[in-house]
Amino acid sequence: MNKIFSFCLLLFAVASCQTAENQPVITELQGETLQMYEKGKELFLSKCLACHNNDMLTASTGSALGGITQRRKKEWLRSYIRNSYKMILEKDPEAVELYAKAQVVMQGFSNLTDEEIDQILVYIEATYQNNKIRLRPVER
Ligand code: HEC
Repeated sequence: MNKIFSFCLLLFAVASCQTAENQPVITELQGETLQMYEKGKELFLSKCLACHNNDMLTASTGSALGGITQRRKKEWLRSYIRNSYKMILEKDPEAVELYAKAQVVMQGFSNLTDEEIDQILVYIEATYQNNKIRLRPVER
């Protein structure tokens, strides 16, 4: 009985070590931020992954989204993600520029709430930071 118990403990230790090693930054997220990350991950994988790569560093049909909260204002992001076509029609300069480059209109997600969009943004930026660090060459 005791042996089985310690074997389980050992398994658990190995599993958590691996997670910590593979995801140095993400595992540092705590409390509310971690919850936002988890919800944002679910939303991103189900709604955005078809056109935006999950590494947040490379472009697919849509551009790489890492660092997006530095490049764009939050209100702009909420409005663009819900209905970029409307922004193009209203001649928002950044939306028009993206459209000119991509020649496709991103599908709108009009029923995402502000909260859900914020969760997606937490997931995008945490994943971006995590991947940037992992891809950085070791300095000696
Ligand atoms: C059907 C394909 C498609 C899907 C699905 C999609 N996008 Fe896009 N997205 C695009 C295209 C195309 C563009 C404009 C071209 C570009 O990014 O350079 C774009 C642009 C964006 C931009 C603006 C990028 C910038 O540089 O300002 C954001 C932010 C964005 N998408 C977020 C999302 C989020 C969040 C989701 C999921 C809720 C999502 N997209 C789902 C195709 C898509």
